[in-house]
Amino acid sequence: MSINIAIDGPAGAGKSTIAKKLAKKLGFVYVDTGAMYRAMAYYFLQHGIAAEDEKTIAEACPRVEVTIAYEGGEQQVILNGENVNGVIRTEEVGNMASATSVYPVVRTKLVELQQQLAAKTDVIMDGRDIGTCVLPGAQVKIYLTASSATRAKRRYDELTAKGIVCDLEEIEKDIIDRDYRDMHRETSPLKQAEDAVLVDSSELNIEEVVEAIYAIYEKAEKEQKQ
Ligand code: DC
Repeated sequence: MSINIAIDGPAGAGKSTIAKKLAKKLGFVYVDTGAMYRAMAYYFLQHGIAAEDEKTIAEACPRVEVTIAYEGGEQQVILNGENVNGVIRTEEVGNMASATSVYPVVRTKLVELQQQLAAKTDVIMDGRDIGTCVLPGAQVKIYLTASSATRAKRRYDELTAKGIVCDLEEIEKDIIDRDYRDMHRETSPLKQAEDAVLVDSSELNIEEVVEAIYAIYEKAEKEQKQ
C-alpha cells in the first residue's frame, strides 16, 4: 500500500515549497493539485470562457485533458498534449482557478486523477481538499497556514525580487478574497480535516516548517507500526 501525506492550506502558506523539500527528503513524489486547477483555468481563459458561465464550462470539460509528468523530478502539467507549466503561475490564472474550481464538474475530473496517482505511489499531495476529500485515508494530514499579512509580505518580497512593481495592501486584499472564496464554496471548501495537524508558519522559516512536518510524519509512522 502506498503512503500518502496530505497538505492543505490557504494560498501563500508555503505548501508547495515545503512539500517539495519534504518529498525529496522522504523519496516521495510531490503532487501539486493547484497546478491542475490552474491548467483547466488556463484553458477557459484561452477560450474566452467566463468564470461565471457554468454551462459553457461544463460543456468544455470533456474537451480538456489534464495529465501530469515528471521531468528531473519536477511536476509538469500537460494540457491537451501541451506542457503549460510556464504559463499557469500568473495571478490571473490563479484567480481564475479559484473561481472555476467551485464547479463540481471541474473537481470530479481532477479528483479522480489525483486519487489514481496516490493509489500507486507514495505521494505528498498539496491543495485545499486533500485531507478532507481526495485522500481521506492519508496516513499524515497537515493543515499549513500563516496570517494573511505574513503571506502577503512573502508574496510581495517574491515579486519585488523579480523586479515586479506591486502593492503590498493590494496583494493582501487579493489573498483575503481568495481565502474567502476557497473556504466558502459549496463543494469541498478549504477546511482543516478533523484528523489534520495544524502548523502555523507565520513565525517559522522554511527549514523549521519542514522539520516540524517531518517530526509529525515520523511520529505517525511509529504509531502505525505499534
Ligand atoms: O494552490 P494554488 O494557488 O495553485 O491553487 C489555485 C486555486 O485552485 C485555488 O485558489 C483553489 C483551487 N484549488 C482547489 O480548489 N483545490 C485544490 N486541491 C487545489 C487548488
